[in-house]
Amino acid sequence: MDFVKNIIGKELDTFEKKFSDAVRSKTPLLDRIMKFIIKRKGKQLRPMFVFLSAKLNGEINESTYRAAALVELLHTATLVHDDVVDESMERRGFFSINAIWKNKIAVLVGDYLLSKGLLLSTEHDDFKHLHLLSEAVKQMSEGELLQMEKSRKLNLDEDIYFEIIKSKTASLLSSACAVGAYSTSKDENKCDKMKLFGEKVGIAFQIKDDLFDYGNENIGKPTGNDIKEKKITLPLIYTLNKVDKTLRRRIIYILKNENKKADSIKFVINSVEEAGGIRYAVEKMNAYRDEALAILYEYDESPVRNALEELVRYTTDRKY
Ligand code: IPE
Ligand code: IPE
Ligand code: MG
Ligand code: MG
Repeated sequence: MDFVKNIIGKELDTFEKKFSDAVRSKTPLLDRIMKFIIKRKGKQLRPMFVFLSAKLNGEINESTYRAAALVELLHTATLVHDDVVDESMERRGFFSINAIWKNKIAVLVGDYLLSKGLLLSTEHDDFKHLHLLSEAVKQMSEGELLQMEKSRKLNLDEDIYFEIIKSKTASLLSSACAVGAYSTSKDENKCDKMKLFGEKVGIAFQIKDDLFDYGNENIGKPTGNDIKEKKITLPLIYTLNKVDKTLRRRIIYILKNENKKADSIKFVINSVEEAGGIRYAVEKMNAYRDEALAILYEYDESPVRNALEELVRYTTDRKY
């Protein structure tokens, strides 16, 4: 990601400092957990999208930094809660918050991060930030709940899958790009265009995440976890529609009754691979990536546009 670092490297360094200041707490336990979170930072893709979307439309300023911090705070809050919901013990190559401090504390830490984000915006009257991001948080909760409802009943088609990932993941990336653009241009049309761009990237991003679950690379969090949680994602949806009745019954049986058994999970993963479910999901992911790029190409070529293109390609080519 050399282009990205060249264009916004300095801003990202400043951002990190502002982010760690923003999560400080005087409560000793919270302070310890915040230090843990800062040390185990993620890829910070969302702040990158905020800064580049901002720079594509104008000059980065203090409000851009607050937008980036808000987005990353909300993202971190939802990850902390998501690991409780998914009963996942690993995050960013180390133990998840719930693995170390248990669920009760993890729920409160997620709330703390959310409120820190809201305060950062209210203290500066960033109403547009609040408006865009509150909408995203609402959609994220709806998406996660819709996913839970569907995985309990094991009925899911492609349309619902896309509805879920649009809500739970793309909504935040979409508002990240919109808020970035708005912070430098105040132009609603540009803001809307970047919103749509972010949504396409977000959908591709979650398909990639779901593909990781079918691999066995070290991605810093568990693989095979979606099957354990009866989460039916695109590779499996395609497979269930394609295979014969006997195999479909067998897979459904595993999801319902043997979803914690390593051999059975392996069997599902192999069936998906053989049925072409991985290839299909990769094609869909690339199609969304290309739709995002088409929107980006409406802007004239520039170093910033090239950096955003690099970031979009990283979203689908990344190794973790
Ligand atoms: C993980 O997001 C959660 C999803 C929406 C799939 P990231 O992969 O961006 O997480 P970090 O911040 O880099 O750890
Ligand atoms: C994305 O879904 C979670 C959020 C949008 C919070 P996943 O449950 O697949 O994310 P990971 O794989 O745990 O990071
Ligand atoms: Mg999860
Ligand atoms: Mg996942």
